[in-house]
Amino acid sequence: MSKVLVVTSGKGGVGKTTSTAALGAALAQLGKKVVVVDFDVGLRNLDLVMGAERRVVFDLINVIQGDAKLVQALIRDKRIEGLSLLPASQTRDKDALTAEGVGRVIAELREKFDWVLCDSPAGIEKGATLAMHHADAAVVVTNPEVSSVRDSDRIIGMLDSKTARAERGERIEKHLLLTRYDAGRANRGEMLKVDDVLEILSIPLLGIIPESEEVLKASNVGSPVTLNSPQSGPGRAYFDAARRLLGEQLPVTVPGEKRSLLGKLFGRRVA
Ligand SMILES: Nc1ncnc2c1ncn2[C@@H]1O[C@H](COP(=O)(O)OP(=O)(O)O)[C@@H](O)[C@H]1O
Ligand SMILES: [Mg+2]
Repeated sequence: MSKVLVVTSGKGGVGKTTSTAALGAALAQLGKKVVVVDFDVGLRNLDLVMGAERRVVFDLINVIQGDAKLVQALIRDKRIEGLSLLPASQTRDKDALTAEGVGRVIAELREKFDWVLCDSPAGIEKGATLAMHHADAAVVVTNPEVSSVRDSDRIIGMLDSKTARAERGERIEKHLLLTRYDAGRANRGEMLKVDDVLEILSIPLLGIIPESEEVLKASNVGSPVTLNSPQSGPGRAYFDAARRLLGEQLPVTVPGEKRSLLGKLFGRRVA
C-alpha cells in the first residue's frame, strides 16, 4: 500500500527540502519506489538539491492543468533506482495549484509509487495546506530553537484539523525530525536541548540530524546526503530515520551524547 508523506514546518529554512531529498533517496536506496514532489511553487529548489534542474521540462502545475501527462513530468534519478522527482514551477502563479488538481495528481502517484514525499513550503504559505491535505503521515521538521518549536506546534494543529484524514475523523501519523542540531551549542545553552523540544512537541521523534557541512557539500553537487556522504553524521541519521518510517525500531542517538532515546521514543507512541 502506498503512503503519502508531507515534509512540513512552521518556519522556513529549517531543512524541509534537504530532508525530503535525503529521506526520499534513502527510502529508494532501501528498495522502495519513491517520488519526491515539490510543492514550493516559485522557489523550485528540490530539483537543485536532487541535481535535476537541467532536466526539468514539465512540472506539477503543467500536469494539474492538463498541459502534460504525469509520465512526461516525472524525472527519474539516474543514480538511484526507484527514485523519481515531480518538480515545481518557478514561474507560475501559486493559485494554479488547486485542491482538486492536487488530489488528482496524488491519486495517480499513489498507483505508481510506494512512497509519495511532498516537500512543502513553510506553514505560513498558502501551498502548505495543499501539500499536507492528502497526507497519511507528516514529518514536522524543527530546529532546536524557540521560534521554530513554537511554529511547529501550530503546524501540528493544522495537521490535526486541515487534512483530509482529519476531516474524515481519522488520525494522521506525525513524526518529529529535529534538524541542524549542534551538540556544542545545545550544551552551552545557545540552543534548545532535545528533551526540551520533546517536552513541548509531544509527537514521536523520527530522528535528530546534526548540523554538518556535509549537507551543504551534498547540496552544492546536487546529490542527496545519503548518496553523497552515506557514512557522515547526517547521512546515517537520515538512513535511520528512513528505516523508522519503514517500521524498524532503532534507538535515536543524541549527537554529542552517549545515551539513546529508545524508551522515550516508543513510550510516546503508545501514550
Ligand atoms: N543538517 C544540516 N546541516 C547544515 N546545514 C543544513 C542542514 N540542513 C539544512 N541545512 C541548510 O539550511 C538551509 C535551508 O535548508 P532547506 O532544506 O532549503 O530548508 P527549507 O526547505 O525548510 O526552507 C540550506 O542552506 C541547507 O543546506
Ligand atoms: Mg524548501
